[in-house]
Amino acid sequence: MIVAVCKETEALEKRVALTPEGTEKLSKMGLSIYVESEAGSASSYSDQQYLNAGAEIKSRDQILSESDLLLAVQAPPQKDIKKLKKNSALVAFLWPLQNQEYVELLLSTGVTGMAMDTIPRISRAQSMDALSSMSNIAGYKSALLGANHLDRYLPMMMTAAGTIPPAKVLVLGAGVAGLQAIATAKRLGAVVEAFDIRPAVKEQVESLGAKFVEVPLEEESETKGGYAKELSVKNKEKQKEVIHQHVKKSDIVITTALIPGKPAPKLITKQMVEDMLAGSVVVDIAAEQGGNCEVTEPGEVIRHNEVIIDGPLNLPSTLAYHASKLYSKNILSLLDLLIEDGKPNFNFDDEIIANATVTHHGEIISPFVKENS
Ligand code: NAI
Repeated sequence: MIVAVCKETEALEKRVALTPEGTEKLSKMGLSIYVESEAGSASSYSDQQYLNAGAEIKSRDQILSESDLLLAVQAPPQKDIKKLKKNSALVAFLWPLQNQEYVELLLSTGVTGMAMDTIPRISRAQSMDALSSMSNIAGYKSALLGANHLDRYLPMMMTAAGTIPPAKVLVLGAGVAGLQAIATAKRLGAVVEAFDIRPAVKEQVESLGAKFVEVPLEEESETKGGYAKELSVKNKEKQKEVIHQHVKKSDIVITTALIPGKPAPKLITKQMVEDMLAGSVVVDIAAEQGGNCEVTEPGEVIRHNEVIIDGPLNLPSTLAYHASKLYSKNILSLLDLLIEDGKPNFNFDDEIIANATVTHHGEIISPFVKENS
């Protein structure tokens, strides 16, 4: 069986789906590995390292026409899918609920599409949880971006020239990314507070040494799967009032709030930004989903009055070396489960394989996709 890795084509994408370390492991399982020339160069993995690990360097056309299993970070361009063999499979971030047209193409070509983003967040699948490994990087980087934009210290400084108080950081949304943003801002010495609509998060926020901002909500805010629900208009207003008071006093506001399958909730209004301290910073890492702040321009750093608003895109790619290392390990864990006797065994009785398999032989398989589309 030929497992292949193409060079990513999206403008901001520097990650690669399989590292030389991962290549070595797959080679030892008796699989042939094809790697497109320079596939790893943007994440500091050279062709020579892949060759040393047992891969063969091939042209993109050879990879597409000959591979049985194509590994990618972003869904490859549609023209590439048309070149794949009929019974081949693709593993990538596919976001099937948002990309209906792509799913249709997989169905019509007969290619099996496995989505790293529909693997269930259960304990057995933790080592495959690429959403968490990438969110963790995004959260870490968001705190660094905030510190970098700020014209102040984060830690308290006691110097001969006077004492500087620590910066105040507010984190909105305390999922995987938010918790890492809290931890990173704490390590940099800031005083941190955080808010999330899921009450279960309070304890996690406090265990990191941050203060939890309480908003008494009179409704269930969490789904059975542990994700956030969209709030009613009344509770959204209540939440805004409380957040407004905290935003006004913060030097850095990091926003990470997402609701699966919906645009990012707007938590920070233009009015709130206008009430912020001069020189303060908003880092809105929900920018890819439209942003949590009304004035965010995805992919841009802007100034609104005296406030800097950064809406970064694809933060995991900015730490491409480690992001690729972790993603490659997530993929290997999935392949460990999938591959038996040198070939994929699509055992749909297994909850992980079933949910990850969006399409197979022209049919939609994933219960997650069926239930939510
Ligand atoms: P996410 O990226 O979907 O959302 C980020 C955060 O935004 C969430 O904590 C969410 O509650 C919050 N949020 C949504 N709307 C909000 C609003 N209006 N105001 C404030 N906050 C708002 O979340 P992520 O990081 O993907 O985690 C989702 C769930 O998955 C969590 O329950 C987490 O504990 C769980 N999880 C489970 C894992 C496992 O068991 N293997 C691994 C990772 C996550």
